[in-house]
Amino acid sequence: MLTDKRILLIISGGIAAFKSLDLIRRLRDRGATVTPVLTRAAEQFVTPLSASALAGAKVYRDLFDLTDEAEMGHIELSRAADLVVVAPATADLMGKMAAGLANDLASTLLMATDKRVLIAPAMNVRMWDHPATQRNLATLQGDGVMVVGPNEGAMACGEFGPGRMAEMPEIVAAIERALGDGPLRGKHVLVTSGPTHEPIDPVRYIANRSSGAQGTAIAAALRDLGARVSFVTGPADVPPPAGVEVIPVETAQEMAEAVNTVLPADAAVFAAAVADWRVANAAAQKMKKDGSGSLPVLDFAENPDILASVSKLETGRPGLVVGFAAETHDVARHATEKRARKGCDWIVANDVSPATGIMGGSENAVTLITADGAEAWPRLSKDETARRLALRIAEALA
Ligand code: C5P
Repeated sequence: MLTDKRILLIISGGIAAFKSLDLIRRLRDRGATVTPVLTRAAEQFVTPLSASALAGAKVYRDLFDLTDEAEMGHIELSRAADLVVVAPATADLMGKMAAGLANDLASTLLMATDKRVLIAPAMNVRMWDHPATQRNLATLQGDGVMVVGPNEGAMACGEFGPGRMAEMPEIVAAIERALGDGPLRGKHVLVTSGPTHEPIDPVRYIANRSSGAQGTAIAAALRDLGARVSFVTGPADVPPPAGVEVIPVETAQEMAEAVNTVLPADAAVFAAAVADWRVANAAAQKMKKDGSGSLPVLDFAENPDILASVSKLETGRPGLVVGFAAETHDVARHATEKRARKGCDWIVANDVSPATGIMGGSENAVTLITADGAEAWPRLSKDETARRLALRIAEALA
């Protein structure tokens, strides 16, 4: 089930570290390649030799090991993996991750990776309950780090409560989920997201208030169901999710070109707030006040309608094309018209009138328009809205 998957396993220094040797064995039994990394403290609990013997691979321990830097730098080491797993994750390492510290090999790899990270925390119950750990946990989850456990139970220190590392089968299952063994496995999905910036001159541009939050959540939700996601994003307020192919663009024209290079795809979700017009006479140099009081005149040209052109492709049209409609009134009616006009399969419509607080907020209330009609969803977090949409896409592609 994990055939040919490459897992970078960071073992930090807790009493649960000995269980990670069993984790290495289980992952290899499932066909994965495991590269272990030990922190200094972990070496007090397991030896590099036992980790290396079970992994059948070299163990990495030191940031400043020059031979390793020559063989494989820490950047490459962190990116050659399909998934980074931290088991056990101590309170200390979680704190470093949350703070963005990079002062040893493990923390540097975690900062340098572009892959998803799954942690299995293990620590004393008081340490787990400590506000600092809970704060760090919330930060890490906000950063997209996946967490498995800890479980409640008797602890090596004699106390009882949450803090025991998750059991091996739970960690293996979480790894399988993280590696996208879901209903969209084998499917390629394109997602556009964020605003576009249309230059006026080299330092000025026209933009809109899209934060990119909903598109980012959709890309993450599709990824979580196992899709290979190509994420074409304008300059958004939120960082792109880990574990997706990110194609950053600035203008609508760049977005249209990027979409063309990404296709073909099984499904395409156009969540970007693309500028309808660009400045046709954008200046090559910064425009200056000349003292005469004369005002610059901007000429506009229409941008390509990416959603409409992809929807109307004769060959290579994605099997499912989903557009968005931000409306301020008569949402379902306008969105139904838009679905017909653009030629897409579904429209996800939302009411962005200022009173809703949706634009830039963390919640959304959408109406899904399909060939079967309009379906009003309850007000949900943008993450939950994204999960529902991803599940519907998985059903449609099944
Ligand atoms: O026409 P309107 O901008 O309201 O349509 C919104 C939908 O069309 C969104 O899905 C948006 O991503 C897409 N769109 C596009 N290219 C444009 C304009 C809008 O893909 N130039």
